[in-house]
Amino acid sequence: MCGIVGYVGDNKSVQVLMGGLRRLEYRGYDSAGIAVIDGEGTLNTAKRAGKLAVLAAELEANPINNGNTGIGHTRWATHGAPNDLNAHPHLGDNGKLALIHNGIIENFSVLKDELLAEGFNFESETDTEVAAILLGREYQRVGDLGEAFRAVVSRLDGAFTLLAVHQDQPGVVVGARRNSPLVIGLGDGENFLGSDVAAFVEYTRRAVAIGQDQIVTITPDLVTVTDFAGNPVETEEFDIAWDASASEKGGWSSFMAKEVSEQPDAVRNTLRGRIHEGQAVVPELTEFGDDVLAGIRRIVIVACGTAANAGYVAKYAIEKWTRVPVDIELSHEFRYRDPVLTPETLVISISQSGETMDTLMAVKFARESGAKAISICNTQGATIPRESDAVIYTHAGPEVAVASTKGFTAQIAALYLFALHLARVRGSISAEESAAQITELQAIPDKLATTLLQESTVHELATWMADTRAVLFLGRHVGFPIALEGALKLKELAYIHAEGFAAGELKHGPIALIEPGQPVFVVVPSPRGSAHLHPKVVSNIQEIRARGARIIAIAEEGDVAVLPFADTVIRIPLASPLFEPLLAVVPLQIFAMELATVKGLDVDQPRNLAKSVTVE
Ligand code: F6R
Repeated sequence: MCGIVGYVGDNKSVQVLMGGLRRLEYRGYDSAGIAVIDGEGTLNTAKRAGKLAVLAAELEANPINNGNTGIGHTRWATHGAPNDLNAHPHLGDNGKLALIHNGIIENFSVLKDELLAEGFNFESETDTEVAAILLGREYQRVGDLGEAFRAVVSRLDGAFTLLAVHQDQPGVVVGARRNSPLVIGLGDGENFLGSDVAAFVEYTRRAVAIGQDQIVTITPDLVTVTDFAGNPVETEEFDIAWDASASEKGGWSSFMAKEVSEQPDAVRNTLRGRIHEGQAVVPELTEFGDDVLAGIRRIVIVACGTAANAGYVAKYAIEKWTRVPVDIELSHEFRYRDPVLTPETLVISISQSGETMDTLMAVKFARESGAKAISICNTQGATIPRESDAVIYTHAGPEVAVASTKGFTAQIAALYLFALHLARVRGSISAEESAAQITELQAIPDKLATTLLQESTVHELATWMADTRAVLFLGRHVGFPIALEGALKLKELAYIHAEGFAAGELKHGPIALIEPGQPVFVVVPSPRGSAHLHPKVVSNIQEIRARGARIIAIAEEGDVAVLPFADTVIRIPLASPLFEPLLAVVPLQIFAMELATVKGLDVDQPRNLAKSVTVE
């Protein structure tokens, strides 16, 4: 939550900062602001409530003096309403210092009282302004931004990435991080800071992730990283796998439309280099230790939202292939009870962003409790992989739309590779069976491409359902988490009440919701692969249809049994049961996107949300 960018170099800061903010806007879009030190050594700021476009229009109408040093921020509001005054940057040292922040400073009211008692004035209701004024006070004492930071961070509780500039130190940006993300971009005669690499990928592909409780100072030619006490720390450079165009919309109507269509490649790229002679051989797991994997007695998956739904899907495959019991836990519930964790427990975190605070805390808690932790993540240099024993990266490319789509399918692909690798190591699956599953997995990208061709049917559906007030989703076995995911997508994008149910649960309560005209999506299991479940779901369809429900069936090619009972049938290619979710989810993603579009809503930036939830 909140996107942060910092720049020093020869380029004009306003353009670099606004470009970075555009690519970080998915992290929050309540307000945006920049601060730039101009050639005269004066600090200039501009900030506006609303999306980045509002700030861009303001800068167009009233340009600020440009310069070569600056910071920029896009906000997801925590403390204080999303108005101009609460927008970042906040100022200290009589307007000579500007500071931006991502996170929450938990002890801000105590600090504010202290500063008020000393006679300082506040303009905003934010926790951030406290840090700005504290930093200004320290700067006046020590005359150096880095040193002032060291004094201030020790006073702050909570989660923060802070970036600051001071007009008396042009050519210097200083940042600090605790429990919130910050990455350095290394340029030639210029350097960058960003919440993630998207902030600067247009200018450089070389990056360094900053560790927990570290302070970084960048100048055009130098990057120094220390711990909070000022001791130098070793850093590791990595190459950014994404190119700049990957985080551009191109000719698409929305990032979401682009990302939905990129799913074949997201899965293909996630499989690449991890299949050897027809078997799953995940190098990251081999490094982690096959002996450790062989000793695992239980798996706990921790994740939130869509990532948790990917975990629910994978549970079926992991248990079937490895015979290791799997529990799914929402990260925010997990560590607030007293879970049983042993050295034989493997905790798998799933996080597209790699920054979700709840999941990060669950991983830390798991490792402190003696469990091993592997992360499934899509973002290089993110915090969760750094806090884990091993990481399997999904290679979906940057996901900019707030609603996760290609991240989800890539997560399932990575989890299936994990499961087949683990099953091979443990000898719980025969080589033939494992090879057959790998063949299924490798066929998914082409089948996803075929599934995407259903777009026009889904579009028509969305058009006639534009005024619908509630939609239900039913599924069974691996179709159940897909029902949950379909409902989640519709809620967050189209602001329609939606619920996903296990079809078998219907008669235990939810069937009371059915009234004439109620739209119900049903994920129908294959009549071939799930011959025992298919008739049961068809019976469920008949039961609700008899009560007036309007049925939209997601069914495989050739399933004629659903035809007499469904108002609309959306076809997906044939796949064996465990692989159907990867296909069945696609029409549901498109439906939510199309319905939001028909309603005139912003599908990339739904209200109240931010992509990366870096506060608890
Ligand atoms: C929904 C969605 C969210 C995220 C959740 C976890 O479309 O995107 O539910 O899945 O906030 O985010 P990550 O995967 O970044 O940890």
